Amino acid sequence: GSALKNGSLRVLLAKPRGFCAGVERAIDIVERALRVYGPPVYVRHEIVHNQRVVESLRAKGARFVQEVNEVPAGAVTVFSAHGVARKVETDAAAGGLKVIDATCPLVAKVHKEGQRYAGQGCEVVLIGHRGHPEVEGTLGRVSGPVHLVSTVAEAEALLPTDGGRLAYVTQTTLSVDDTRDIIAVLRRRFPAIQGPDVRDICYATQNRQTAVRALASESDVVLVVGAPNSSNSNRLREIAEVCGRPAYLVPDAGGLNPEWLGGAGTVGITAGASAPEQLVQELIAAIAARYHVSLETLPGVEEHVRFRMPADLAHPV
Ligand code: F3S
Repeated sequence: GSALKNGSLRVLLAKPRGFCAGVERAIDIVERALRVYGPPVYVRHEIVHNQRVVESLRAKGARFVQEVNEVPAGAVTVFSAHGVARKVETDAAAGGLKVIDATCPLVAKVHKEGQRYAGQGCEVVLIGHRGHPEVEGTLGRVSGPVHLVSTVAEAEALLPTDGGRLAYVTQTTLSVDDTRDIIAVLRRRFPAIQGPDVRDICYATQNRQTAVRALASESDVVLVVGAPNSSNSNRLREIAEVCGRPAYLVPDAGGLNPEWLGGAGTVGITAGASAPEQLVQELIAAIAARYHVSLETLPGVEEHVRFRMPADLAHPV
């Protein structure tokens, strides 16, 4: 009961937070595929980096696999929002799979840019995080050598093959500030390098980073709802920390450590692009079980981005 509560706490929500248009589309694709083709529908890789999303789709008949060779011949298979290497596509075709591609259109755009630069004879530099599925996909889309650069130090150490023409593309979910620093090094060392500045970083990533900065300036502690393997969620946590606030990544309400709230007057909450709003609401409920909570949302930009469905799912049953 309220007599046991620890006092009052202001909970401030960032805007925008949570699902982006690419994540909404990817989840929608799996749900529509389940309705149109019936279960099971196979999904290569976590459709988006969130356990709650994966479990709810699994309960509806989705089966998650790491590679397409785990899928029975001819089965309906969805590629995740992160995109795939060309080889995954050819493997799926060889297995006779019915592929539905949930690659975010903004990731696909980066694939095309990389291919265009390579086609012009450029050596391509990919700014991104080693091992992330989006980076694996982009690396596997560009013909010719691709240099993966993750840090300013790696940009300083980059050795192009023979001083030929260079171009860069980036992962969509990077820190805008860190990426600017890396691009500045590349431009200083290779003045003729071509590239899109930080425009490959998608609108959702940029908006959530701007919002978490505003949130951190008003909060004593920042909680970021997101999965440990979610790139954009990790960047949000780092940005809040750079703003001088203790900041924690919270996969779900069970991940809340009550000690983090001790002494705080305002706790700021945001969510990565793959985290369902339900998880935010559950976290607020967990806090409200301990404190008298006053809830506010910081003003921020309205997002109106929507992506089209693949043609065969455009008219769901
Ligand atoms: Fe696409 Fe950006 Fe979301 S690349 S999946 S809109 S985080």
